[in-house]
Amino acid sequence: MDVFDQVSTLKKFLNNCRKTNKSVGFVPTMGALHEGHLTLIKNSTKENEVTICSIFVNPTQFNNAIDLKHYPIQHEQDFKLLKDAGCSAVFLPSVEEMYPNGVSQKSMLAFNFGTLETRLEGAFRPGHFNGVGIVVSKLFHMVEPNKAYFGLKDLQQFLIIRKMVNDLSFPIDIKGIPTVREKSGLAMSSRNQRLTEEELSIAPYIYQTITEMKNMLSSNHSPKDVLEWGIDEINKNPSFHLEYLDIVKTDTLERVDDQHLPKSYAIVIASHLGKVRLIDNLLIE
Ligand code: PAJ
Repeated sequence: MDVFDQVSTLKKFLNNCRKTNKSVGFVPTMGALHEGHLTLIKNSTKENEVTICSIFVNPTQFNNAIDLKHYPIQHEQDFKLLKDAGCSAVFLPSVEEMYPNGVSQKSMLAFNFGTLETRLEGAFRPGHFNGVGIVVSKLFHMVEPNKAYFGLKDLQQFLIIRKMVNDLSFPIDIKGIPTVREKSGLAMSSRNQRLTEEELSIAPYIYQTITEMKNMLSSNHSPKDVLEWGIDEINKNPSFHLEYLDIVKTDTLERVDDQHLPKSYAIVIASHLGKVRLIDNLLIE
């Protein structure tokens, strides 16, 4: 498995692949890889002859300096996991390689993703999705993949990337991969490493609550009642500091009407537990 830290050497490698008409799958990550990331890699290796994984902790999408500072970095372990999963090459650029003109969002062009950007994660992390849009579009231009793989765990991110690719005519097929969970139901995340033993035993309650909410909705309880029930359940445990819990339409991320559940909707949640911010969702189509 090759590791490239420069765009020029990555492009050289990819040009050679394209000469022999090899299809390229791409999995952008911020590293500290776990089974969730590796599932994206395995989907790509199944569907493409070449799989590129990028590892880049992107400063323009962090609105919290402490979160950026504590983001886990474990390149050697990541390389081993990627090699075993069949990844062809890793792109590991420096901040200067990605952003030769600096990282200030103020000096870059800005996206407007409408309600997809202002609700939920966007409301609590101003500028986050603009930073994601910038780095993913730069990576798409560098890698020029046929297909790119994103986890549905970050549902809002997936919807935003899909819109960006449609609106800007990127010739890339965007694949959404279902959330990979621990046996306890907890959605896998690089940030779970920072949970204490005790917090790890409480964290699965997030998934249990949204699963129960899904069951209540399918047995015709009103969305309003189900939402109130879910918020009460989470707030009963003082270790959680809930940021949002909502039942939203998948196309706009606006709250569903109380009288009418659309065909595609999602139960979405973000909560702090100790020093860690956890997100999860259930997508119902
Ligand atoms: P990161 O958090 O490293 O996630 C990389 C990819 O792995 C994302 O598409 C994410 O949704 C997916 N992923 C994470 N946990 C998952 C799980 N438990 N099951 C399935 N997929 C999972 O998301 C980012 O990085 C960044 O925002 C990035 C897109 C790389 C842009 O900087």
